[in-house]
Amino acid sequence: MRFIHLSLALGLALGAAGSTRATSESDGDMAVAYRQSAFKLIYWNFSKMGAMVRGAAPFDATDFAQRASRVAALAEQLEEGFPKGSETGGVTEAKPEIWTHWDDFTAKLDDLKRESAALREVTASRDEDAMKAQFQKVRQTCGACHDEYKAD
Ligand code: HEC
Repeated sequence: MRFIHLSLALGLALGAAGSTRATSESDGDMAVAYRQSAFKLIYWNFSKMGAMVRGAAPFDATDFAQRASRVAALAEQLEEGFPKGSETGGVTEAKPEIWTHWDDFTAKLDDLKRESAALREVTASRDEDAMKAQFQKVRQTCGACHDEYKAD
């Protein structure tokens, strides 16, 4: 009983917070916001690693390792940001082909997960060349998926 009251109260609180927004947020909108946020976080870290790889910033192995670990963890959280029905939610650059070619899309997601996990692992070696080489492998997985499934 107490649980029911609590969830009712929570529901009302969330409903009240939601009603202050200009537009109501559907599950699709939430999913779009979630995945775009995850990609922004990935990009934040990935671009800083990229600057180190290009030599535009000094190579800092500790910083690189931390960012690699963040990207690998975020990569594992992406799939739930693409539920069915989020094709049309919010303003999205996700192409509808994602959901009609789901196995291929998730294979490309798996490529990112695998290569970013490998990058996280290789940072333990502190071998700068190995880290840079593996970074390029991760970068290729970004492009391979964007070419097919992200609108320009
Ligand atoms: C399996 C497919 C896939 C992979 C792999 C992938 N992306 Fe994306 N990315 C997408 C899709 C689809 C969108 C569009 C999301 C939307 O607008 O709903 C996107 C959007 C983005 C955005 C724009 C986010 C925003 O809305 O501001 C950035 C930045 C980005 N990706 C960076 C990356 C980086 C960096 C990598 C590699 C480390 C990567 N992505 C790997 C599919 C992928």
